[in-house]
Amino acid sequence: MEEILNQYETVHPSDAKIWFKAGNVSDFPTNRGGCIKYKNKQIAVFNFARRNEWYACQNACPHKMEMVLSRGMTGSTEDIPKIACPLHKKTFSLVDGSNLNGDDLKIATYPVKIVEDEVFVGFLD
Ligand code: FES
Repeated sequence: MEEILNQYETVHPSDAKIWFKAGNVSDFPTNRGGCIKYKNKQIAVFNFARRNEWYACQNACPHKMEMVLSRGMTGSTEDIPKIACPLHKKTFSLVDGSNLNGDDLKIATYPVKIVEDEVFVGFLD
């Protein structure tokens, strides 16, 4: 389990060295997630149209290590955009990956940029 989690580390926008093309804007459903693969990572990408924002995070939920976060529900708590895992509803901030239920679980988040009609996710390597 640790091995899966160790693959994921939050990338801050200014640290991104690789901008991987995840697809076109139209490839991602609005207000829900899509899943992409980059090297050995599964990344959930969210076109959060209600906020006119995009987010990306690890697809693995740290609770049971299931690859499900891309199928979760997006929402906001006190203006923090969040994703709720579809299995047991633990919620995570899409900004910093913190667990909003107060558990000691967090997720890695990745920067997303849109260039014309293309969606890019930033990685360290
Ligand atoms: S597997 Fe995600 S909350 Fe349990």
